[in-house]
Order: sequence, then C-alpha cells, then structure tokens
Amino acid sequence: MRLRHVVVGLFGACLVVLGCVQAVTLEVKDGNSTCIKAELSASMSITYNSSSSTETAVVPLPDSASVDAGSSSCGTDRNLPWLVAVFGSGHALGLSFSTNGSLYSVANLTLQYNLSDTSVFPGSNSSVVVTVVTASVGIWAAVNTTYRCVSPTMVAVGGQSVTFSDMRLEAYMQGNELSPAESVCIADQSITTAPPATTSTTSAPTTAHPSPTPPGTPERGTYYVYNSNGTVCLLAQVGLQLNVSYLSQSQNKTVQEMINLAPNLNASGSCEASSATLVLTQAESIALSFTFSLNSTSNKYHLSGITLRANFSDMSAPFVASNTSLSYLWSTLGHSYMCNAEQTLAVERDFSLNTFKLQIQPFGVTTHQFATAEECQMDQDEMLIPIIVGAALAGLVLIVLIAYLIGRKRSHAGYQTI
Ligand SMILES: *[C@@H]1O[C@H](CO)[C@@H](O)[C@H](O)[C@H]1NC(C)=O
Ligand SMILES: *[C@@H]1O[C@H](CO)[C@@H](O)[C@H](O)[C@H]1NC(C)=O
Ligand SMILES: *[C@@H]1O[C@H](CO)[C@@H](O)[C@H](O)[C@H]1NC(C)=O
Ligand SMILES: *[C@@H]1O[C@H](CO)[C@@H](O)[C@H](O)[C@H]1NC(C)=O
Ligand SMILES: *[C@@H]1O[C@H](CO)[C@@H](O)[C@H](O)[C@H]1NC(C)=O
Ligand SMILES: *[C@@H]1O[C@H](CO)[C@@H](O)[C@H](O)[C@H]1NC(C)=O
Ligand SMILES: *[C@@H]1O[C@H](CO)[C@@H](O)[C@H](O)[C@H]1NC(C)=O
Ligand SMILES: *[C@@H]1O[C@H](CO)[C@@H](O)[C@H](O)[C@H]1NC(C)=O
Ligand SMILES: *[C@@H]1O[C@H](CO)[C@@H](O)[C@H](O)[C@H]1NC(C)=O
Ligand SMILES: *[C@@H]1O[C@H](CO)[C@@H](O)[C@H](O)[C@H]1NC(C)=O
Ligand SMILES: *[C@@H]1O[C@H](CO)[C@@H](O)[C@H](O)[C@H]1NC(C)=O
Ligand SMILES: *[C@@H]1O[C@H](CO)[C@@H](O)[C@H](O)[C@H]1NC(C)=O
Repeated sequence: MRLRHVVVGLFGACLVVLGCVQAVTLEVKDGNSTCIKAELSASMSITYNSSSSTETAVVPLPDSASVDAGSSSCGTDRNLPWLVAVFGSGHALGLSFSTNGSLYSVANLTLQYNLSDTSVFPGSNSSVVVTVVTASVGIWAAVNTTYRCVSPTMVAVGGQSVTFSDMRLEAYMQGNELSPAESVCIADQSITTAPPATTSTTSAPTTAHPSPTPPGTPERGTYYVYNSNGTVCLLAQVGLQLNVSYLSQSQNKTVQEMINLAPNLNASGSCEASSATLVLTQAESIALSFTFSLNSTSNKYHLSGITLRANFSDMSAPFVASNTSLSYLWSTLGHSYMCNAEQTLAVERDFSLNTFKLQIQPFGVTTHQFATAEECQMDQDEMLIPIIVGAALAGLVLIVLIAYLIGRKRSHAGYQTI
C-alpha cells in the first residue's frame, strides 16, 4: 500500500462547545483517491502522575496535527483502513475502520501520548510513551454516507477520554469529497431540523412576542442510563428549568426566557469508570447533557460539565452553551446526591439551569434504586428550620410552665396571708 500524500487542512474555528478547540481536516489517500476523510475537533483528557499527586491534562487536537503516512493506510487484505493523526512530541490519535458492506464503523480508537513532553504534562514523573486502545467507540454509518456528529461525544479509552465534536467523517469513500448523504448520530438527531413553526413569527404578527410568563415549578422526571449489557448505571430524578438568553428572530433583540422542560425527556448517555454522561433530549429542539467525574483517589464525584443545544423556532441561530469545568453536586461514591431545594447551576453568561427536587447517582449504581443520599446544604438548612421552630416552641412552653408554677406559688402564698 503506497501512500502518496496526506493532506492536512485546517480552519481555525473556535467552537463554543469545547472552549477554543480547532477543527482539523485529516485525509488518507491512496494515489489520487481519498479513502478516509475526517473533519473534526477533538480534546483529550489525560490523567498522569506527578511526583506528589495525580494531574489531569486537557489536550486539544491542535491544528498542526497531521496524518502519519507511515502507519495510516487505506487498508489491505490483512489490515483495516487506518487514520493516524500525529501531533506535538510523539502524541497520536488513531481511528481504524471496518465494514460489513452496508455499514462501516470505527473498529478501534488508539491514543498515544508521550509523558516526557513536559509542555503538555508538566511535572510528570514518568517519561514513557503510553498507548491505549478501545474497540467500543460507537461511531458507525451507512456505506456511502458521511457520519455526522456535531454534539460532543466522549469515548473512554484506557482510563483516559477523547471528546469529539463537530465531527464529519467518511471511510470507504467513493469520491474525494465527503458524501452529501449523512448518517446523523443519535445525539444530533434531536436538533437537526428546526421544529415546526408553532410559535413562529408568522403566526403572531399582531401579538409580536408575548413576554414569557414565569413558568412556575417544572415537573420532575425520572431518567435512566443503561450499560451495554442492559443494566442501569445512572439514575436521575429532577425537574429542570432552562434560563436562556438568545437573539429572537421576531423581536430582533436578545430575549431572556425561562423554559420548563417536560418530565418525559428521552434519556441516553454512557457510564465509564471515572466519568458518566446523561443526555436528555426533547424531540428536535433540546439536547441537554451532563457529565459527571469521579475522582477514584478521594472517591468523590461531581457534575463537571453541562452542554445545552437548543433550537427554538424563534431563535435566529441554534443555541449552544457549554462549560466543561464546573464544580457542582459534589457527593461520595456509594451515595446518591439529593437536593430538594431549587438550585441554580450557572453554565455560561447566557445560560443557567435551575434544578428542582433533584436526586442523582452517576456512579456505583448496583440495583435499580438510589443509594443513601447525601443532601445539599440548602436541604440541611431547611431541615434545621423545623428543629429550630420546635426548639423555640418547647422553650416557650417551658417558660409558660415556669411562669404558671411561679404564679401559682405566689397566689398560694396570697391565700395564706388572707
Ligand atoms: C493523479 O492525478 C494526476 C493528475 O490529475 C495524474 O497525472 C496521475 O496519473 C494520477 N495518478 C494516479 C495514480 O492515478
Ligand atoms: C500513578 O501511580 C500509581 C502508583 O504507582 C499507579 O498505580 C497508577 O496507575 C499511576 N497512574 C497513572 C495515571 O499513571
Ligand atoms: C510517580 O508518582 C506516583 C505518585 O504520584 C508514584 O506512586 C509512582 O511510583 C511514581 N513513579 C515513578 C516512576 O517515580
Ligand atoms: C487497532 O487497529 C489497528 C489498525 O487496524 C491495528 O493495527 C491494531 O492492532 C488495532 N488494535 C487493537 C488493540 O485491536
Ligand atoms: C517524547 O518527548 C520527548 C521530549 O519532548 C522527546 O525528546 C521524545 O523524542 C518524544 N518521544 C517520541 C517517541 O516522540
Ligand atoms: C451489517 O451490520 C448491521 C448491524 O450489525 C446489520 O444490520 C446488517 O444487516 C449488516 N449487513 C450485512 C451485509 O451483513
Ligand atoms: C456505494 O456507492 C458505490 C458507487 O456509487 C456503489 O457501487 C455501491 O453499491 C454503494 N454501496 C452501497 C452499500 O450503497
Ligand atoms: C454489566 O456491565 C458492568 C460493567 O460494564 C458490570 O459491572 C456488571 O456486572 C455487568 N452486569 C451484568 C449483569 O453482566
Ligand atoms: C435568569 O438569568 C438571569 C441572568 O442571565 C438572571 O438575572 C435571572 O435572575 C435568572 N432568572 C431565574 C429565575 O433564575
Ligand atoms: C435588527 O436590528 C439591527 C440593529 O439592532 C438592525 O441593524 C437590523 O436591520 C435589524 N434587522 C431586522 C430584520 O429588523
Ligand atoms: C422520545 O423518543 C421517541 C422515539 O424516538 C419519540 O417518539 C418521542 O417523541 C421522544 N420524546 C421526546 C420528549 O423527545
Ligand atoms: C483527587 O482527589 C485527591 C485527594 O483529595 C486530590 O489530591 C486530587 O487532586 C484529585 N484529583 C483530581 C483529578 O481532581
């Protein structure tokens, strides 16, 4: 297999989704014909040891990443087509593909990182080059179509993780360009088409856009995420309210809106050893994802990321807000997290999320049930109120009683003097 040349294009798109992660174009060619082409952004989260602690480096796939001609190939009788992108000092990300004639899929994902690169892994106490591989990637599409997934998708690989976003790729290509026909990933399916104009500009020319009334408390929904073997691995019960600011098409200005999510959202997600994701979607208009991280040293977990993608008919552009460095809902492995009180989770300037009657367990789910809950401070404070009131009442009763007894003694004494 000769590989004449490999082309690396780039466009420095700053995605909201993962901070400033560049979209990279990678192509594997055999002679003049392209067999694999990928346009994607990727961010790798790599945990390593320094002399005193465990550190995590978040490494974006840089725009300088290039296809490694030595290991990439369009496939032979013995070897699968393989796209290997190399970057920096001895780091690489590889995707190999297989097909059964009607579908093609990523057969394995390889991540290689060089711990002696101190610019990426400051303080690392090791200098080895680590290679980790996973065969469960979950990227597949019909032959002769482009796989498309704009939503961030996390792939766990040997304790580390790779998050792709804004991804379009095709293997076993017929032409040199990505097929216009697309296989859209499940996470994107909810937001691909704009919802039918229910409250659109055309329907309400006279009433303009009524200022949104406060929607009250959202109803609580129950959501499950299942393992590949069908067992529940994440449990959640929560009422959700979005607080978003977006540019309204009908009013041609930024409006701030509170939206209660119906309690029948569709849940999906994934559970890995140290991270778990819950994705809630509402047909074609909303995809809200939560990422939880577990620190296996301290056995504490927390909500570390929230991404909202929304497409309402009145939005001038689809709304995306994401923050992957959050620190909410801290709890301990083996427990669920509970907060009955309303909680506001600020995500970005234009998006915050209010939760109501929340109980969630992203790790260590052994049965279909929540483990013992650790309650939020607000609930604990609220529980204190009846205790304080009770104590105050008891005190009052005691005072009245003492006053009565003293009074009785006095009046008794009074009778005696008469
Ligand atoms: C590639 O294309 C060039 C020009 O289009 C042509 O001259 C060359 O023969 C082609 N090579 C192969 C292997 O098809
Ligand atoms: C860190 O060091 C400990 C102890 O040597 C080892 O068990 C662990 O696998 C190391 N972690 C990483 C990410 O290399
Ligand atoms: C690196 O540090 C970890 C603790 O953070 C320690 O367990 C491990 O043995 C160290 N490895 C080397 C090669 O020094
Ligand atoms: C991953 O795929 C590549 C290319 O097909 C192959 O060389 C490698 O052996 C595979 N790794 C594993 C662990 O299957
Ligand atoms: C790993 O990084 C070090 C330091 O940047 C470099 O000297 C070495 O060549 C790299 N190893 C590989 C396999 O690229
Ligand atoms: C390819 O795999 C898919 C999913 O496993 C299956 O539905 C399809 O029938 C397979 N096609 C062929 C030609 O084997
Ligand atoms: C893909 O396209 C090629 C060329 O147009 C065609 O020969 C082949 O049958 C197509 N494969 C499928 C599964 O549609
Ligand atoms: C299902 O898979 C999980 C890990 O993926 C494992 O912990 C659990 O024991 C499995 N359950 C069954 C019934 O196989
Ligand atoms: C919604 O967010 C805005 C800031 O973006 C804030 O001023 C407002 O109080 C929030 N409303 C609710 C009900 O949380
Ligand atoms: C929207 O407002 C901007 C300035 O606020 C104005 O330049 C633009 O023409 C307006 N567009 C429409 C369609 O009214
Ligand atoms: C959930 O998915 C089902 C099947 O795809 C669909 O019929 C239903 O409308 C979805 N519900 C919501 C709230 O999106
Ligand atoms: C995990 O917890 C330990 C102990 O509390 C802490 O030292 C370490 O920094 C944490 N690791 C991460 C990745 O947050």
